[in-house]
Parts: sequence; structure tokens; C-alpha cells
Amino acid sequence: MKILAIVGSPRLKGNTSFLVDQALDEAARLGAETEKIVISQHEVSPCLGHENCASLESCTQKDDAGWIMEKFYEVDGVILACPVYYLNVTAQMKAFLDRNYFPYKKNLRAKARSVGIIVVAEQMGIEDTLYTLHQFVDWIFFVGRGRRLVVSGYADRPGDAQKDAKLVTEARELGRKMAESLKRE
Ligand SMILES: Cc1cc2nc3c(=O)[nH]c(=O)nc-3n(C[C@H](O)[C@H](O)[C@H](O)COP(=O)(O)O)c2cc1C
Repeated sequence: MKILAIVGSPRLKGNTSFLVDQALDEAARLGAETEKIVISQHEVSPCLGHENCASLESCTQKDDAGWIMEKFYEVDGVILACPVYYLNVTAQMKAFLDRNYFPYKKNLRAKARSVGIIVVAEQMGIEDTLYTLHQFVDWIFFVGRGRRLVVSGYADRPGDAQKDAKLVTEARELGRKMAESLKRE
């Protein structure tokens, strides 16, 4: 059982990354193989919108999006984690989401049977950000909204999430529940 987290925050020691670590730690405790990919650490360029995906063998952009998506479509569980930037996902996360247009146009759907979503904001925009991520999951995965695990909360400076015991517990629970549901299958 493998769980992959895609992190849209560029802050390596920020709140989102911290909460993802909590979730993955708990999942690993239950025997999951885990991996965290921080998009900003790789080259994931925005979609160029030529709309030729269906007629091409592979995406014309040869950056890191290709191998990241290969993993993303194969793993058993996926966590999409992102802070709110101007009321929605960060540019890094949006670039990654858009690059999934290629497999989408090829009618490929991700195999994950468990999906987690983690969103952090200083004060506003969580609803719109969750809407964006849910909508994306609707298109790419076969995991209905009722079966997705969502954790969202308020934090600003790195370290804030750490001090929020409820948020930490919820993130750990998300990881535990994902691993448990995959184990039960
Ligand atoms: C460019 C930028 C835009 C932001 N926009 C918002 C926003 O619209 N709403 C909000 O509540 N917080 C906003 N924030 C604050 C972040 O969501 C907040 O600091 C969050 O904890 C960052 O998560 P991280 O530590 O995982 O990077 C913004 C921060 C930055 C740098």
C-alpha cells in the first residue's frame, strides 16, 4: 500500500508540509509506504494549452511533471495538500493540476482508492481552495466526495500548525484513516 502526498507550498518547513508529515507518519505506522513530493522542489511548468494532447504520444514539455504524474496515477492513496494563496491554490499546485490535462485527454484516470485533502490559510479562502481540489479529484479519480478525507485550518507563520493540537490530531487521523481504509480492502 503506497500513499503519495503532493505539496503545493514552497515553504519546506511550513504549515502544510508539517501537517502532511503528520498524516504520512501515522499512515507509515500502519504499514503504508509513503512519499512526499514538494512541487516547488521540481520543475513543473504550466500547461501550454495547445490542446493537442490526444494526438501526441507524450506531453511536449519534458520536465518533472511527467514522472510525478506517473507515480500519482499508480499509487493506492493520494494526499493533495496546499496553502491558500489569494483565495485559492498556489501557482505551484495549479501548474501541477493543469498538467494533468494530458492524461485526462488520454482518458486515463488515477488508480488511488483513497484521497486526502489538506488546506491551510491565514484567514480566508479555504472554501474556494477546497472547491478547486475537489473538482480536480472529481475529474481524475474514482473516489466520491463522501469518501474523501479533508483537513483544513488556520495557520500563518511556520510553526503555527504545530501549536494547533486539534489540527495536528486531524492530520494524523487523516493519515490513519487512509491507511486503514486501504488495509481493509
Ligand atoms: C502570496 C500569498 C498569498 C496568500 N493568500 C492568502 C489568502 O488569500 N488567504 C489566507 O487566508 N491566507 C493567505 N496567505 C497566507 C498563507 O495561506 C498562510 O501563511 C499559510 O499558513 C501558508 O502555508 P505554508 O506554511 O504551508 O506555506 C497567503 C500567503 C502568501 C505568501
